[in-house]
Amino acid sequence: MKAFIFDLDGVIVDTAKYHYHAWKHLADHLDIPFTEEDNEQFKGVSRKRCLELLLEMGGLTVSQEQFDRWLVEKNEDYLGYIAKMDASEILPDVPRVLDFLRSRGVPMALGSASKNAKPILEKVGLTEYFSAVVDGHDTTRAKPDPQVFELAASRLGVAAPSCVVFEDALAGIAAANSAGMTSIGIGDPEVLTEADRVFRDFTEIDSDFITGLLQGRP
Ligand code: BG6
Ligand code: MG
Repeated sequence: MKAFIFDLDGVIVDTAKYHYHAWKHLADHLDIPFTEEDNEQFKGVSRKRCLELLLEMGGLTVSQEQFDRWLVEKNEDYLGYIAKMDASEILPDVPRVLDFLRSRGVPMALGSASKNAKPILEKVGLTEYFSAVVDGHDTTRAKPDPQVFELAASRLGVAAPSCVVFEDALAGIAAANSAGMTSIGIGDPEVLTEADRVFRDFTEIDSDFITGLLQGRP
């Protein structure tokens, strides 16, 4: 049996831009130059690790209290962006692929680093598709560690080599590969070079390709 595991931010919904805006806001406040290219490293990475990276970029060392306050500030800023999210922010053709898999009885899980994953799934109305949701509250080791996907596979009761992972982040592709899963990149092929296959978005993924994956073709 095959199982499919989906990352959330940048795969199912276009929240990657909101994470970027929130980090950019904090970076500007701290006078740390921060570009969309820098933000690639932040994709798939836990909130705490993102702040560590930002402070490293700015050469700043701060107290634990200050660190924790900035974590809260960034998240409050982010929550402001996602407050009004609805199904219109689901990325193109994601529902078509989810419906196709569900119609074939394929078990599906969410595997996200985000602690906001469950409320976002609720807001966009996709919760019911997933038999397991593994998020930033369930994991102790961030992507590229495979923990998030291993946990998702074990909750679905499917062996790692039978899992297919959809990811937009370098760290997420590395996590899927190190779990021994098939990795499908969503984004720029020149960035996601380690993925088994890369598509710009789900509009490029047809039923034949999914059927091939279900039959074990790469
Ligand atoms: C990942 C995003 O899905 O979740 C990262 O790609 C983000 O950019 C991480 O830092 C943690 O998210 P949150 O919502 O817990 O701050
Ligand atoms: Mg992502």
